[in-house]
Amino acid sequence: MQNLIAKAITHGVYIITAQASGKKNGMTAAWVSQVSFNPPLIMVAIAPARFTHGLIKASGFFAINTLSEDQVELAKYFGTHSGKDVDKFSTIPYIEAGSGSPVLKEAMAYVECKLVNAFGAGDHTLFIGEVLEGEILRPDKQPLIFSWNRFF
Ligand SMILES: Cc1cc2nc3c(=O)[nH]c(=O)nc-3n(C[C@H](O)[C@H](O)[C@H](O)COP(=O)(O)O)c2cc1C
Repeated sequence: MQNLIAKAITHGVYIITAQASGKKNGMTAAWVSQVSFNPPLIMVAIAPARFTHGLIKASGFFAINTLSEDQVELAKYFGTHSGKDVDKFSTIPYIEAGSGSPVLKEAMAYVECKLVNAFGAGDHTLFIGEVLEGEILRPDKQPLIFSWNRFF
C-alpha cells in the first residue's frame, strides 16, 4: 500500500525548522500542504519521534524552507540525521525569521508560521500553521519534487 501511495501522490521537498530553549533544528519533510486561503494556513505532518516535533510544540512557531531541484544533498542530510545526535546547523548558513525559526540562506523560498492547531493522525501529527511572513529568496530556481520515492 505504501509503495502505491508514494507513486500516486507527488510532493515538494522542504526543510521544516524550529528553535526552542536555545536549540535550533531542521528536518526534511515532503508531507506539506496549504489547507486554507483565508486565513493562510499550511499543514506539515511530522512523526512524534522527530526532534523537530518537540521544538515546534515548545516554541509554537516553525518555518518551511523550500528546496530547489539542485538541493537533493541538503534534503538527504536533513532527512537522515537527527538533531538528537548532531547540530545540523553547525555547517549550514542560516538567518532567523521574525519569530526565531532558522531560515536556510540557500533555500529557494521560506514561510514562517505560527502554530495554531495540532491533530494526531495515525503515526504523524498534523501541525497547522498560520503564515506570518516569507520571501522568495531565489526566483530563478525550480522546486525539488519527490515522487516514486525519488527526487526530480
Ligand atoms: C525526502 C524525505 C521526506 C521526508 N518527509 C517527512 C515528513 O513529511 N514527515 C516526517 O515526519 N519525516 C519525514 N522525513 C524523515 C525526517 O526528515 C527524518 O526522520 C529526520 O532525520 C528527522 O530529523 P530530526 O529528528 O532532527 O527532527 C523525510 C525524509 C526524507 C529524506
